[in-house]
Amino acid sequence: MNKTMKAETAVSVPTKTDNARRVETLLAHMSLEEKVAQLAQISGAPWNEGPDPEEIIRERGIGSILWLNDTKRFNELQKIAIEESPSGIPILFALDVIHGYRTIFPLPLAMAASWDPVVAEQAQAVAAKEARAAGIHWTFGPMLDIARDARWGRIVEGAGEDPYLGAAMAAAQVRGFQGEDLADPERVLACAKHFAGYGAADGGRDYDPVYLPETELRNVYFPPFQAAVKAGVGTFMSAYMDLNNVPANSNRWLLRDVLREEWGFAGFVVSDAFGVGSLVVQGHARDRQDAALRSLKAGLNMDMASSAYLENLAGLVEDGSLTMGEIDDMVRPILALKAEMGLFEHPYVDETLLDRVVARPEHRQAARRAAQRAMVLLRNEGGLLPLAKGQQNIAVIGPLADSMEATEGSWMVFGHKSAAVTVLQGIRAKLPGATIAYAPGPEIHRDIPHPFGEFDMTEKKPIQTPEDAEAAFQTAVKTAQNADLVIMVLGENADMAGEFASRGSLDLPGRQEELLKAVSALGKPVVLVLLNGRPLSINWAADHVPAILEAWEPGTEGGNAVADILFGDVNPGGKLPVTFPRSGGHAPLYYARTLTHLPEDSPRYYSRYWDSPTTPLYPFGYGLSYTTFAIDNLKLSAAKIKVGQAVTVTADVSNTGSVAGDEVVQLYIHQKWGSDSRPRRELKGFERVTLQPGEVKTVSFSLGPDELGYWSTNAGRWIQEAAPFDIWVGSDSLATCHAALEVVE
Ligand code: GLC
Repeated sequence: MNKTMKAETAVSVPTKTDNARRVETLLAHMSLEEKVAQLAQISGAPWNEGPDPEEIIRERGIGSILWLNDTKRFNELQKIAIEESPSGIPILFALDVIHGYRTIFPLPLAMAASWDPVVAEQAQAVAAKEARAAGIHWTFGPMLDIARDARWGRIVEGAGEDPYLGAAMAAAQVRGFQGEDLADPERVLACAKHFAGYGAADGGRDYDPVYLPETELRNVYFPPFQAAVKAGVGTFMSAYMDLNNVPANSNRWLLRDVLREEWGFAGFVVSDAFGVGSLVVQGHARDRQDAALRSLKAGLNMDMASSAYLENLAGLVEDGSLTMGEIDDMVRPILALKAEMGLFEHPYVDETLLDRVVARPEHRQAARRAAQRAMVLLRNEGGLLPLAKGQQNIAVIGPLADSMEATEGSWMVFGHKSAAVTVLQGIRAKLPGATIAYAPGPEIHRDIPHPFGEFDMTEKKPIQTPEDAEAAFQTAVKTAQNADLVIMVLGENADMAGEFASRGSLDLPGRQEELLKAVSALGKPVVLVLLNGRPLSINWAADHVPAILEAWEPGTEGGNAVADILFGDVNPGGKLPVTFPRSGGHAPLYYARTLTHLPEDSPRYYSRYWDSPTTPLYPFGYGLSYTTFAIDNLKLSAAKIKVGQAVTVTADVSNTGSVAGDEVVQLYIHQKWGSDSRPRRELKGFERVTLQPGEVKTVSFSLGPDELGYWSTNAGRWIQEAAPFDIWVGSDSLATCHAALEVVE
């Protein structure tokens, strides 16, 4: 192979055959050391030990570099790979672009709250354009972990508790990142992570072992990953934790039997950070050589940052533990995706491009719209919202009201300097002539600092003294006293959700609730805006604060989107993708569970806890509007169908109020008995519709084997069976509009 293969200007786009031929020619000529290097992803971050990038690239090339965000440096390293490495194979540059590169979108949990896959697709398409313009080829997203325990900080990164909604969001995000053609220079390679079951850690403790029966994996945790495969996702990332005592990074059942044999996945799998070397720390592998051997055998193509592959794979081939064919099988999909992306023809990035791309006005417009559609109106007693724009004297209170970090949320890319519009700024921009006073009140901070804290770029502030906190508390109450209306902005800092951000409590951190009570006691109208990355147990606020808007971590345009909703330019239509428990002690809490021997509607069994109701504070699928809707006229195309047939479900949704608005019509089923007990409700269809006042729309869903079947513990396989079903449609998981369906042999 020509050592100094230059990046010719592509005179024609290589065909799949051309690419396949290129891959086989490379494999035939590459040394074992070169092949092993393609199975390695090394750190480009200054803080990480590991091989010197320039040295290893010159010597044998490298599969991928991560934790580097420097366009000029990308080209420098790529030039060494193309012109000086033995085979001139381009490098894949990878970074966590989870919800935006420079234009930050709402966190994925918030995008799921829009119940609008187009929002997620458009957001990730913008993220891809900006990331690719920076020189990044591969993002470690979408994160597809189902999460039913709000104590787990990474609940913010996924689509919540439901596999059906999660699958829709998974496919949409893969489409957004990858588009239709991986050779598109405005797209990036996506990565379905963390395969699988990561969100079910005991106690919500990040990284803790997970024990899930196959039935739960297949019915709940796998569907978003299967949807990603169907959508053509190029890569997977295996999870850190032990899954039923076998770490996902070296779990052959997951990576070969299920992912490749059953689902036909043809891309490649990367470990999570240091995951191969960690098998020793997890008490699974004898040593790093054993870890490398077991991971490779299990079907893990690429070792993220641990260097266990780099150090051991060649020796394992030489001693006969591995064959060259096994190495080639792991290298092949990596080279194939590099070829499919056109990196051999176009390995470099135009260093002037990024500024032009991030300046596109449509990017921030898309971010603002996504934030508007993600927000959920939790309470609006007495129609306090929307607020009149004639308001003249408002106090905006709370430690997050003017926090750019909290507005953009967790998982910022390295070096990102926030330019978010805060809630305070958004309100001031909306009412330029009004008096908008501001007081943060006492600061909030983690009790235990974030271990990644030394990596992030936000400035470090000293912890506020109790005296200063008390002074800030009193100032905030006084500021509220002098206003006619108070908007409280409370919730969590960006480092309180995300990775390594589990909590035992779901209460508002710090003295926020105390401040909310003190301000509420002033007797003025109070609106609560929540900026948070997980469900919070805002029990007191839910009973005492007339208006509550769940704004999540809304991104760069978050403050404008909050103001758009508070002052009525946008009618909120989001719905909760996760159940809100009444306390951390109730987690995990989710709607789709089987029945017990206690009748659900029995007045005697009001609560299983003696210190609080068992019911959620807010149910899955819940969200209010500035208008009202009716959902009725539920019809089935047939009351009885055979196993294997489909039935069409239709219902009418009407806007019975006085302003236009969106409703998310949700379809739930319950198989009343069968081989296995089945969840009392399961989401199997949804549609977000916009209706003018008085307008009526008929929505239609199809229920067939895919929706009515399930993986059965008793049968040990996927089945669909004859049984009676409840069918409900409604505006949340407590829907009451009901019909009966009979499925017969
Ligand atoms: C982290 C995360 C994973 C991320 C990876 C690379 O530890 O678990 O989601 O993509 O390392 O940054």
